Amino acid sequence: MTRLLATADDRLPLPRVDGRIIDAIHQSGLVGRGGAGFPTAIKWRAVADRSRGNAVIVVNGAEGEPRSEKDRLLMTTRPHLMLDGAFIAARVLKARRILLYIGERHESARQSMLRALGQRDEPERALVSFAAAPARYVAGAEMAAIHFLNEGIATPTTTPPYPFERGVDGVPTLVQNVETLARVALIARGTPADTALITLAGAVRQPGVVEVPSGTTLGEALRLGGGATESPRAVLVGGYFGSWMEPRVAWPAALDRDLRLGCGVIGVLPASRCPVCETAGIMRYLASESSAQCGPCFFGLRALADASSRIAEHGSSADDLRRLQRWATEVRGRGACKHPDGAVTFLASALTVFANEFAQHEAHEAREVQLSA
Ligand SMILES: Cc1cc2nc3c(=O)[nH]c(=O)nc-3n(C[C@H](O)[C@H](O)[C@H](O)COP(=O)(O)O)c2cc1C
Ligand code: SF4
Repeated sequence: MTRLLATADDRLPLPRVDGRIIDAIHQSGLVGRGGAGFPTAIKWRAVADRSRGNAVIVVNGAEGEPRSEKDRLLMTTRPHLMLDGAFIAARVLKARRILLYIGERHESARQSMLRALGQRDEPERALVSFAAAPARYVAGAEMAAIHFLNEGIATPTTTPPYPFERGVDGVPTLVQNVETLARVALIARGTPADTALITLAGAVRQPGVVEVPSGTTLGEALRLGGGATESPRAVLVGGYFGSWMEPRVAWPAALDRDLRLGCGVIGVLPASRCPVCETAGIMRYLASESSAQCGPCFFGLRALADASSRIAEHGSSADDLRRLQRWATEVRGRGACKHPDGAVTFLASALTVFANEFAQHEAHEAREVQLSA
């Protein structure tokens, strides 16, 4: 098994690469590990076709997802592998800048990348500069990263133009997650990692990052983290833009084949916690992280968070549940970025998996109204 996380980050000579690496990336089936799961080779081709020796590579190490740790761990422990991926991208796409966009709170990751860069002697070293990504959820979105790098404002802008058309400095730009670039470096050496990188969170004995062989089931990955601390009610697969799943459905699912892993966070919700309250809390967080530029996102997510909180706190009107379902479909696809889509994907899964609990909260409220009448 080839692994991504090794105990020592060996600095190996950069492999010779040309445009054929894009075919190798395509054949490997590599998709982005920042959350969206977009095929990496398509992005590389789009930039390669337009670059006139002026492309920009943005290494996305913002890691704004609250429970995710894998990108920080990779930057801290495998900085050379990350740089290899970025240098290969710069060579193949004929770039003149490489920007390391690292979360402002991820100080040890930044230090590690700085140290590793000081040990490099390839010409690409001169192309590199660092930028501190603001600690906001949407700052990691690719259009927000480009906006920040161009104008110092980390809010998404509308597309088109897409990054491969006009990104940083108005030139073709590749924005790629750090794990994706590390995987490219292994593909270029002919040793793609046949593993999945997961951050275990919530009611797990040993939360943190695990690397598991391809085909590992979610239940087996959780066992590597010492298992659940108590009987689980549900699992959130893919972080705050992910979906809740019933344990009996999630446990036998192969992580990298059967599930939409998104940013790779697996969160375990124990049976002792109220799933409606958890859902309302995450909706409140996602609403507060809207960059307030698009009405359906700003007002829609706030309304959804308010309605979820009312239901959670047993103060809902009888119509809240129906409204929640209707508004969730109305918000989708109505923002400049995918923030509202991620939030309503999460909410829709909650309304399905926790249908009974949502209904019980409503019934409880109806009983209270009857008793007080
Ligand atoms: C609201 C929002 C936040 C995001 N945050 C991150 C992030 O912190 N890190 C990241 O790599 N991608 C993040 N993404 C995904 C990026 O927009 C982009 O798809 C990714 O960096 C591209 O790299 P990849 O193809 O290697 O995944 C976010 C997307 C959205 C909509
Ligand atoms: S959809 Fe939301 S987060 Fe995205 S740009 Fe619009 S207001 Fe900002």
